[in-house]
Amino acid sequence: MNLISKIEELEKVSASLEPDPVQRESFIKQVKEFADRFYGNLDDSRTYVKGEADLDKVRVSGQKLSFEEIINLYEDQVASIGINGASGGHLGYIPGGGLFMSSLGDFLADITNEYAGIQFASPGAANIEEAVLVWLKEIFGFPKDSVGNLTSGGSVANLIGLIAARDHHGILGSEIKNCVVYVSQQAHHSILKALRIIGLWGVHLREVSLDENYRMDAQNLAHLIRTDEGQGLRPCLVISAAGSTDTGAVDPLREISQICNSHGLWFHVDAAYGGFFTLVDSKKAILDGIEMADSLVVDPHKGLFIPYGSGAVLVKNRSAVIKSHHYTANYMQDAIKENDFDNPADVSPELTKHFRGMRIWLPLQFHGIKPFKACLEEKLLLTQYFREKLQDMGFIIGPEPDLSVSYFYYPFPNGNENEFNQKLMELIHLDGRVFLSSTILNERFLIRIAILSFRTKISTINKALEMISEALNKLL
Ligand SMILES: Cc1ncc(COP(=O)(O)O)c(C=O)c1O
Repeated sequence: MNLISKIEELEKVSASLEPDPVQRESFIKQVKEFADRFYGNLDDSRTYVKGEADLDKVRVSGQKLSFEEIINLYEDQVASIGINGASGGHLGYIPGGGLFMSSLGDFLADITNEYAGIQFASPGAANIEEAVLVWLKEIFGFPKDSVGNLTSGGSVANLIGLIAARDHHGILGSEIKNCVVYVSQQAHHSILKALRIIGLWGVHLREVSLDENYRMDAQNLAHLIRTDEGQGLRPCLVISAAGSTDTGAVDPLREISQICNSHGLWFHVDAAYGGFFTLVDSKKAILDGIEMADSLVVDPHKGLFIPYGSGAVLVKNRSAVIKSHHYTANYMQDAIKENDFDNPADVSPELTKHFRGMRIWLPLQFHGIKPFKACLEEKLLLTQYFREKLQDMGFIIGPEPDLSVSYFYYPFPNGNENEFNQKLMELIHLDGRVFLSSTILNERFLIRIAILSFRTKISTINKALEMISEALNKLL
């Protein structure tokens, strides 16, 4: 067989990777039917189903499956087990979103397969990413010349922010053991993980104490910094939370920023959960000072209700970020010039990246900002409603929350209170109509409330109350 006939032979087989218009229409119809079924059942289906996925059923054997079989497997092995991330009944951990319009953004981005890492490859995609970042800079009061990146989530965004802090302060080599980093006792573990990944194991890590609302105690921070300076150490970085995971607490950002300013420390704010509440007028005061951060992390897959896979970081010191991430190579000479720093790849460990901007930009453009604001405000009021009703049922509730995370426990007088609340949690998980998660604070077992899904409505909270009441009655 000559070369041409061999190629033609292979082409006949490889052509099946490109469905024809009739097949495309049928596949899209089947996905639409699945979506209709899924959305149609969302209110009535359980938010949490304990169960294991069967690897054998999804094993890649190399043989073909029909599209119908694939959709059935997805429905049976993915969408029906575990926590339903699209459900408004997800009130555990920090819930995600799942806006339908984002899925269409992903669909478009995947069809044209934009290369979003570099301007040269897709100036339009890079521009859309930049447009989202410009909007973020505006709402968080960051200067126009700061830089940003759309990441896969808060963990990678924290990583980028902390790398910038490290490189700005030159915390490398023998400097590491001199440097002091200050974190809230409520810092998310992705912060500690990032410090480890970027080689800052060896810094002095100070856990700043908290006030009665679990916010970082600024007085204690100032005291620790002065003590460390007095001992000849080098305080470098403060990491605050604007909405901690456990309790939703917002640290006193302005006060902390002033302390950072007067001692020359980098101020990193992890607002992965709480940042977007800045869109709600009543929460502007508590988030006051967020604009003073040197680096800021927010998670559109939390407070903007985008599906999982969307974080963002903003950093004021452009050169610190570029210093760590800008690279050129001979094979990139057409695409990246020596002094051209305008590419998403200059601000991120990623070169090739998913065109994430589209799943954020499309819903923002389509819906406008008003429903996002209303939805966030609704979540705050639902938290208030939930707490009031729980209190009526005899639960002890946590302090007035800064945002939409709170907790409760049942004061069990005749026995082990932690054990009682743990059993209550187990019953709630077994029921699964609504999903809640637990934590431990000061050795007390607590059930958390985290209201952030855009699909959580007053009917969801009433369902949660009914479920909790039934579980409680089984134990009393
Ligand atoms: C305050 C905070 N920071 C960081 C993260 C990590 O973000 P991600 O899970 O998007 O990586 C979370 C996740 O819940 C969080 O609540």
